[in-house]
Amino acid sequence: MLTVALSKGRLLEPTVELLARAGIRVPEGILDSRRLIAPDEDGRYRFLLVKPMDLPTYVEYGVAAAGICGRDVLLEMQPDLHQPLDLGFGRCALVVAGKAGGAAETGNLLSTTRVATQYPRTAERYFRSRGLPVEVITLSGSVELAPNLGLADTIVDLVETGRTLKENGLEILEHIADSSARVVVNRASFHVRHDEVRAFLEALRGALP
Ligand code: PRP
Repeated sequence: MLTVALSKGRLLEPTVELLARAGIRVPEGILDSRRLIAPDEDGRYRFLLVKPMDLPTYVEYGVAAAGICGRDVLLEMQPDLHQPLDLGFGRCALVVAGKAGGAAETGNLLSTTRVATQYPRTAERYFRSRGLPVEVITLSGSVELAPNLGLADTIVDLVETGRTLKENGLEILEHIADSSARVVVNRASFHVRHDEVRAFLEALRGALP
């Protein structure tokens, strides 16, 4: 039985749909239930439902042999994992955003920009790579509040439809990276459980549009 970690949140529904198209049936009702661990109906897989940012840890430590998470998480956590497959769904972008109307700017070399984000390492790396002084404030959600309340000048966050930014009076200032759902595999499992991992990857590949 191969243990596979799945990301809770916005990737879960399209992930379960892809698994179903791949002939892997997770238990009915998993999307609504509070269960965090569940076998598939054929007993070939066991699924763990974990917080997206924790997923690489489960796979790196080998608790799960494989997992499905967003590239945004991989950029932030920089795990030492195989990344054999881009699943193409969950497309979004990591951006720097600030108050609409140009009040915020990120290119000022003289003053430190304050950035609120759920992606502290990515934000720090991005600003430092541009030679800009930055103070990163780590939040675990609702970061779009920060510029309007004076907590930060800008945010680094995911944008999918752009609705959250718009409804909070923010706009994209800079694009950092694109993201979509990726399969990750533990390096040891990739070799030790090669046949099972390969069967899993082939099933997913065959179900992609
Ligand atoms: C993400 C992200 C934005 C929002 C962007 O949050 O942090 O807030 O989605 O989506 P949009 O461009 O389509 O409006 P999510 O809803 O995943 O919850 P989170 O804040 O807990 O991460």
